[in-house]
Amino acid sequence: MTSPTYAFPDGFYWGAATAGHQVEGNNTASDWWAREHSPRTDVKEPSGDAADSYNRFREDIRLLADSGLNTYRFGIEWARIEPAERCFSRAELLHYRQMIDTCHEYGVEPMVTVYHFTMPLWFAAKGGWKRPDALEKFERYVRYVLPILHDVKWIFTINEPNMVALTQGGTEGTDFIAASLPAPDPVISKALVDAHHMARDVIKSALPDAKVGWTIACQAFHAVPGCEKEMEEYQYPREDYFTEAAVGDDFIGVQAYLRTFIGKDGPVPMTDDVERTLTGWEYFPAALGIAVRHTWDVAKHTPILVTENGLATSDDKRRIDYTFDALAGLHSAMDDGIDVRGYIHWSLLDNYEWGSFGPTFGLIGWNKETFERQPRPSLNWLGAIARTNTAFHPLR
Ligand code: BGC
Repeated sequence: MTSPTYAFPDGFYWGAATAGHQVEGNNTASDWWAREHSPRTDVKEPSGDAADSYNRFREDIRLLADSGLNTYRFGIEWARIEPAERCFSRAELLHYRQMIDTCHEYGVEPMVTVYHFTMPLWFAAKGGWKRPDALEKFERYVRYVLPILHDVKWIFTINEPNMVALTQGGTEGTDFIAASLPAPDPVISKALVDAHHMARDVIKSALPDAKVGWTIACQAFHAVPGCEKEMEEYQYPREDYFTEAAVGDDFIGVQAYLRTFIGKDGPVPMTDDVERTLTGWEYFPAALGIAVRHTWDVAKHTPILVTENGLATSDDKRRIDYTFDALAGLHSAMDDGIDVRGYIHWSLLDNYEWGSFGPTFGLIGWNKETFERQPRPSLNWLGAIARTNTAFHPLR
């Protein structure tokens, strides 16, 4: 029996994503860099040179384009652009403009995240998103970067605000995601919603043709039978509060990796027999379709872009299995009428997974000594899907 194939609509975006701090290296003015180098650090290893994509972005974009993918989602780093308060770096701004130009040169759609977890240390030191003047400082940064975004069609204001709120404003580690999610800080949650709406309005009034939205970490919550109410109470402040805030946006970004069961006392630990990925999460490709359907309902039919989906594995064949099954779930949701504009895989490169280089999410690996890029078969496979607009499994 041959495996089914799934055709996607014309103009569908197929791409891969990264985030500045996770791949660039030496983001020295950021809160994360300070955390990594604190004598009391709680992280396993520092980000250091990361994947050196700050210097190698041309090669990374070329590899993405050569594979057949047509979209690169990347982040710009506030801590590089404004390393000290009101001290803006024109050179760093132009660095990101070069990345946008390089995408255009290779026929790749650049999609830009304005804020992906990390913040300048000066902003964090006085309370981060809890500062009374957080909105004003963020607005000043957003206005500063506007000129380089003039021809960018897809802009994300804030990546996973729900994770930012859970981690008290900008820090994350994989360990806690695998366990139970702490309660979000409501002050930070509200500040992030306000920051998103402000940024969206500022960007839209300057760039009316740009599509502007934010991206949500979707947990594909499941209720243990009889615990539906507990699940809703758990889910709302950790996910739906932020999804609802996207109503009225041009689109919402769905980021899905795993599922979470909620029982009477909150998240139910995984049993030993489930397959786990290198982050310790359950291998559960159906998470994407479930997350897309849930988001479509909660965001009241706001168009969807899948902005992250993937898994950390040392077995690239398993990456293909997971992604193919996730695409099957996505296709079925689209068949049911859900408006999805694209699929962006996490991640283009192995990267700094917030505390460790251990979990390898990349379609491309790299040599630890030389940074030489080592594209994996999954890169060309996903690129072939992009070229034909049809998902297939090469081995089934
Ligand atoms: C984040 C990424 C992260 C990925 C895998 C998302 O939470 O946006 O920064 O690396 O998931 O954990």
